[in-house]
Amino acid sequence: MLPTIEWKDDAVVMIDQRKLPASEVYVTCKTSKEVAKAIKTMVIRGAPAIGVAAAMGLALGMKRSGASGTKQFATEFQKLCDEMAATRPTAVNLFWAIERMKRVFAHHVQAGASVDELKRLLEDEAHHIHDEDVASCRAMGAHGATLVPADARILTHCNAGALATAGYGTALGVIRAAAEGGKKVAVFADETRPFLQGARLTAWELVKDGIDTTVITDNMTASMMRLANIDLVVVGADRIAANGDVANKIGTYGVAVLAKEHGIPFYVAAPLSTIDLGTPDGSGIPIEERSDREVTHVGSYRLTPEGARIRNPAFDVTPAKYVTAIVTELGIARAPYETSLAALVRSAATVAATAPPREAGQRDTVVSEAELKQPEPR
Ligand code: MRU
Repeated sequence: MLPTIEWKDDAVVMIDQRKLPASEVYVTCKTSKEVAKAIKTMVIRGAPAIGVAAAMGLALGMKRSGASGTKQFATEFQKLCDEMAATRPTAVNLFWAIERMKRVFAHHVQAGASVDELKRLLEDEAHHIHDEDVASCRAMGAHGATLVPADARILTHCNAGALATAGYGTALGVIRAAAEGGKKVAVFADETRPFLQGARLTAWELVKDGIDTTVITDNMTASMMRLANIDLVVVGADRIAANGDVANKIGTYGVAVLAKEHGIPFYVAAPLSTIDLGTPDGSGIPIEERSDREVTHVGSYRLTPEGARIRNPAFDVTPAKYVTAIVTELGIARAPYETSLAALVRSAATVAATAPPREAGQRDTVVSEAELKQPEPR
């Protein structure tokens, strides 16, 4: 698996997801502004990956600051945070990551850290956010795999894979963990109009992993549920409200309603950073409207006549009543979500509060996909 995002030689390097699968090219961002633009234009996308990119972008921007004192440094930091927050409104991981960077900043300014120390601390925090994301995807995968039968036909929507995270994936992490555990899995990937994350990105990732993959257009989902004996649906999320309502890629709501009609479990896999207890229900989740052009054109080819009005909401909200369970890194939540999600978030806070403090520059142990594929020494 190629890395989604990396910190390399004081730049943030991302695989350009707009170009996949036709070409595997990397974009190198040298400033916070360039990272913000990469998020907005979907060079990098997927809620957890957006959070990681934002954190790295802020660390990068501040590393390049020429501020001589913490006061000026703090003013510049706030400006970069505001620019980053204006990129994409729905994925709460973006705001979660910015808040986390702000907390580290405020804590160490209060403790009297110098500008150089703050630069290093912000960079360390961005690396921790990256590494923790991979670890939580793996933990989610292990929990979620317990929900997958030995011989499973799984439908997914959009891309909630390694490309949408720092690695391994949320929904695709569950699928990967099931396959690695010896289960036979066949995946049906909704193409996911208009940006085609399913057809381009999910299929690319799964085919590379040797997982049986069938791409279907979005309007085939109902028929496939009836004719192809789908056993379960698993998708990711961009924001989960306190009551379990789930914002995810446009079309997810329809998939969930169809799953219920066909008696198919509908699972959501998402890290706790996607749970927004401050938003009581889905009606409070901001839904991003993207450019008409994503709907009117495929590449440079125009599909629709001039003069037709266009709508392009990038996300929808699936009411909690359609969600069979929510898989997180700390376990599986079921209805009533008001209590199960709050309990998981509380236990995450306890884990964080009791963790030993990190040494400066210490990274979490992240095993790369390449290392995992190395044969065991005899
Ligand atoms: O517009 P995108 O491609 O950023 O939307 C992504 C999704 O909707 C994903 O399903 C979601 O972020 C979960 S990713 C693990």
